[in-house]
Amino acid sequence: MSSLAQKLSEIVGAAFEEQGLPRELGDVRVSDRPDLAQFQCNGAMAAAKVAKKNPREVAQGVVDTLNSHAEFEKIEIAGPGFINLNVTDEFLQNHLKSVAQDERLSVLRMGGETVMLDYGGPNIAKPMHVGHLRASIIGDSLRRICKFGGYNALGDVHMGDWGTPMGMIISELEERGALGQPLTMDDLEEIYPKAAAACKEDEARMERARDATRKLQDGDPEYRSAWQQFIDVSIDGMKKNFDALGVHFDLWEGEASVHELIAPMADDLKAKGVAVESEGALVIEVEEKDDKKEMPPLILYKSDGAVMYGTTDLATIVDRVQKYNPAKILYVVDQRQGLHFEQVFRAARKGGLVSDATELTHAGFGTMNGQDGKPFKTRAGGVMRLEDLIAMGIEKAQARLNEADLAADMNEQERGTIAHKVAIAAIKFADLSNNRISDYVFDLDQMTAFEGKTGPYLLYQAVRIKSLLRKAADQGADVGDAFVIQDQDRALALLLTELPDHFVLALKNYTPHVLCDYAFKLAQAFSSFYASCHILSEEDAALRGSRLALCDLVQKQLALILGLLGIAVPERM
Ligand code: ARG
Repeated sequence: MSSLAQKLSEIVGAAFEEQGLPRELGDVRVSDRPDLAQFQCNGAMAAAKVAKKNPREVAQGVVDTLNSHAEFEKIEIAGPGFINLNVTDEFLQNHLKSVAQDERLSVLRMGGETVMLDYGGPNIAKPMHVGHLRASIIGDSLRRICKFGGYNALGDVHMGDWGTPMGMIISELEERGALGQPLTMDDLEEIYPKAAAACKEDEARMERARDATRKLQDGDPEYRSAWQQFIDVSIDGMKKNFDALGVHFDLWEGEASVHELIAPMADDLKAKGVAVESEGALVIEVEEKDDKKEMPPLILYKSDGAVMYGTTDLATIVDRVQKYNPAKILYVVDQRQGLHFEQVFRAARKGGLVSDATELTHAGFGTMNGQDGKPFKTRAGGVMRLEDLIAMGIEKAQARLNEADLAADMNEQERGTIAHKVAIAAIKFADLSNNRISDYVFDLDQMTAFEGKTGPYLLYQAVRIKSLLRKAADQGADVGDAFVIQDQDRALALLLTELPDHFVLALKNYTPHVLCDYAFKLAQAFSSFYASCHILSEEDAALRGSRLALCDLVQKQLALILGLLGIAVPERM
């Protein structure tokens, strides 16, 4: 099972092959001129080069073969040699029937291998900022997409829990004589900024923080137990935030989890001659001769013996390969860390830490900006905490629900739940609908609107279709198991055959926005269909059944896609 365009590619590909031409040239896609045709194949132009013929002549040869196929209602050659195609309603009806009967809605399962996704990446004791928000939202969606694609997808939060900030907190606690005493998240949030500021001002304090970090990493029992305590407290806080956001992790590992692997890894890399001494430090040269930009070596140990960000990332690769043997490791991290990941990947390959078959990808993302075009901050200019952002979203969602007179008959608690869902849908969709590489402006007014390309609009449409289907069931009007396509139904029916193509692109390029675009198009097509067709009021039972089946399919596709985006749909609204 596949998309309709894929099915047609098979047929047209075979026709190219019959002409002695490469099969791939028969690739068919949805026409970019729907006024002229439903589908198009542009392969004749490239084929003409291979066959040293005129493109229209090549196209004619293919069309002659296609003419014997009953699937097509219209076959035309346009311009220099485009092949324009319309399918018969019968073919479309049969295809839709198979989509409706398939619980995967005709999306193929790709691979069963393990894919590890590294996202979230919050740092202990520091509030999560908007960069972590993007990493969490995009990463969690990619995890869901990989999982639906058939992979064993594992999301790892990869906390920053091992660097100098840990030593800063420990030395501040020592200063206060409070090391080892019970601690809350509020305490941590008060302590860390003070400690960081003190270290910035006073080099002696900074030195103590570095010493404490080293002692902690070397396994000092008192420091380790204090550290474990603030890790536990922080994880509790993070879990609350991630739960509210609907972001899931399978693994709660961090930089510290791989500490024991660092020394043996460094020894191995030294023995292989990959890690070398340089000015007292231990480094891996990763420069290659075609490099256009500067490519500094990856530092394993600084001259003072401290390990770096790259060191823990390399050891994490060793750990992941040992434990899970992943086919792919995907890092959903701010694209400004691109150089870092390039160094890490090169070092991992050079050191033979991963097999050539293992894909290492940095799926980077752009910045979430405020209305002023600068990275999003609170009004006071500080970091926006995730829980405050969600609270702001909920407040706005409440107002929007009131304006639109939605959820009006519900009690306080139910309305609260709906507002939460609307807020999360707004925040996630606004983030995911942009190409992840682009920067975007965080605009709460725009993203919470029930009109336009927004999460709330899609939720509203999904809920509306659910309620239509409930009403149909109440009236004893059945969702048909066969389709009857008339002029008003055709645009929606054709669109519903596209899902697998969009899914494949989103999975291949790690681009959830492709699914957002399709979901929005689908919701709009449904709106036009709903406005121009009789559905419940249709007297012809077969046509009514078919239209309800179209509604049902729209509902299922929207629910699937919103699920892949990490957006929960309420029953009513
Ligand atoms: N903690 C890091 C930060 O806040 C992000 C971690 C990303 N993941 C990784 N494997 N380096 O920038």
